[in-house]
Amino acid sequence: MADLAILYDKSESDELGIRLTAEQLGIDLEYLPFYKIAFGFNRSGYEYRSAGKNYTTILNDIKVILNRGQSKNRRVFAASVMESLGKKVVNPVTVEVTCQSKIRSLIKFMEHGINIPKTVYVPCNVSEELGSGGYIDNSISISQLIETQLSSEVVVKPDAGTHGRSVSLAHTHEGLLSILKSLKTDTTNPAGVVAQELIPKWFYDLRIIVSKEKNRQAYCEPVALVRGGFKEFRTNTFLGNMVVHVNLPEVVRKQAEKCGEALAGDSDAWLIAMDAMPNISNKKGYDEEVIKQKFVDLEKPFKEVTKAKLDPNKKTDFVKYSRNVEKAYLEYKRTDAYNYIQGVVTETLHKTANDVVFHEGNSCPEFWEQTRIIAGINVAEPLLACAISLLDR
Ligand SMILES: Nc1ncnc2c1ncn2[C@@H]1O[C@H](COP(=O)(O)OP(=O)(O)OP(=O)(O)O)[C@@H](O)[C@H]1O
Ligand SMILES: [Mg+2]
Repeated sequence: MADLAILYDKSESDELGIRLTAEQLGIDLEYLPFYKIAFGFNRSGYEYRSAGKNYTTILNDIKVILNRGQSKNRRVFAASVMESLGKKVVNPVTVEVTCQSKIRSLIKFMEHGINIPKTVYVPCNVSEELGSGGYIDNSISISQLIETQLSSEVVVKPDAGTHGRSVSLAHTHEGLLSILKSLKTDTTNPAGVVAQELIPKWFYDLRIIVSKEKNRQAYCEPVALVRGGFKEFRTNTFLGNMVVHVNLPEVVRKQAEKCGEALAGDSDAWLIAMDAMPNISNKKGYDEEVIKQKFVDLEKPFKEVTKAKLDPNKKTDFVKYSRNVEKAYLEYKRTDAYNYIQGVVTETLHKTANDVVFHEGNSCPEFWEQTRIIAGINVAEPLLACAISLLDR
C-alpha cells in the first residue's frame, strides 16, 4: 500500500524520470491518471475511475500526491480535487493558482520586496465584444496606457503562457500597436494585457530550483540552468538557444528562496523553478562576436543531443534512452565552446548579482534532460523529499 502517488495526464521524460528515481530510491509510488477518468462526488463520498480500472480504493490510501498535470489549468483542477479529498499535494493549490498567473506572481514578488521588471497590467481586452453585437478595438487606448509608464521597448506576454509562446518585443509605438492587435483573449490570456520593461539580460536568463520540505527552511539549489543565445530576445531552448550551468552567487540564492516564500506563503512543502534575468546592460566586458561564434560551435554537439532525444524506444527502454541523452550532453559539456560561454556567464552573473531580476515561478518544471544533466539537479529527488516530509512519519 503506497502513501505517495504521482498524478499526470501525459507521461513525458519528467514523469518517467520521477518514477525511475522513486524506484531507485526504494520509494513506493502509485500512479493516478488525470485524463480519461471520471471523478464522481457528492456528500456521501466519491468515486475515481477510468474506463478499465477503479482507482477509488488506491486513492483512499494515498496521502500525498505529486501533481504533474501538463497544463497550468489542469494542475489547478487536479490540486483542487485532491486537496478536497484531504490529500496533501506538491505543489499545493495556492502555489498552483499563484504560479498560473504572471501578474499574481509578480504582485507577490513586489509585496516581498523582490527585484522584478517594471510591469504594467491593463485589465482591458483589446477586442471587446459589445452587448449590442460587434466588437470594438481598444488597442490604441491600451498602448497609450502602457506608454504612460514604460519606454517604447516593451515586452508583451500572455498572463498564463508557457514556453515563451506569444511573448513579443515591441521597439516602437507602431510595433506595440501591431502586437496588441494580434492578441486573443483565451485561457492563457484571460483578462487584459501584461506589458513589461525589457531587461538588458544580454544573451541569457536563469532557471533556479527552490524547494521546501515540511519543518525546514526554503532551499535554493547552488547551481542553476542557464538558457542563452543570440537568436532573439527570448531564450527558450526550443527557439534554438543553448544551455549551460552556473554556480549561483549567494545573494541570488537568498533572493530565490525569498521568491519561493513569496509565492508559497505558509504552505508546508513545495518546489518551484524561478525564472530570473541578469541586468547586465553595460557590464559586458566581452567581445560579443567571439561569444556568437562559440554558440555556432555548440550547434554540432547539440545536434547529437537532439538526435538522442528522438529515440522511438524512449518509453519502452527509458534507462537506455536516458543514458544516451546523458552521453550526448556530456560530450556537449566537454567542448571548448561550452566552457567559454560558461565562463562568460559566471563572470557577468557574479558582477551583476545584486541586480538579478525575478519574473515568475514555474510550479511543474521540466528537468529530466537539461536541469538534471547540465545543472546536475535531479529535481525528482527534492520533489520526492518534499512529498515524504508531508507524511509526518
Ligand atoms: N521583461 C523581459 N525582458 C527581457 N527578456 C524577457 C522579459 N520577459 C521575458 N523575456 C524573455 O522571454 C522568455 C520567455 O518569457 P517568460 O518566461 O515570461 O515566458 P513563458 O511563456 O513563461 O516561458 P517559460 O515557460 O519558458 O518560462 C524568457 O526566457 C526571457 O528570455
Ligand atoms: Mg517563464
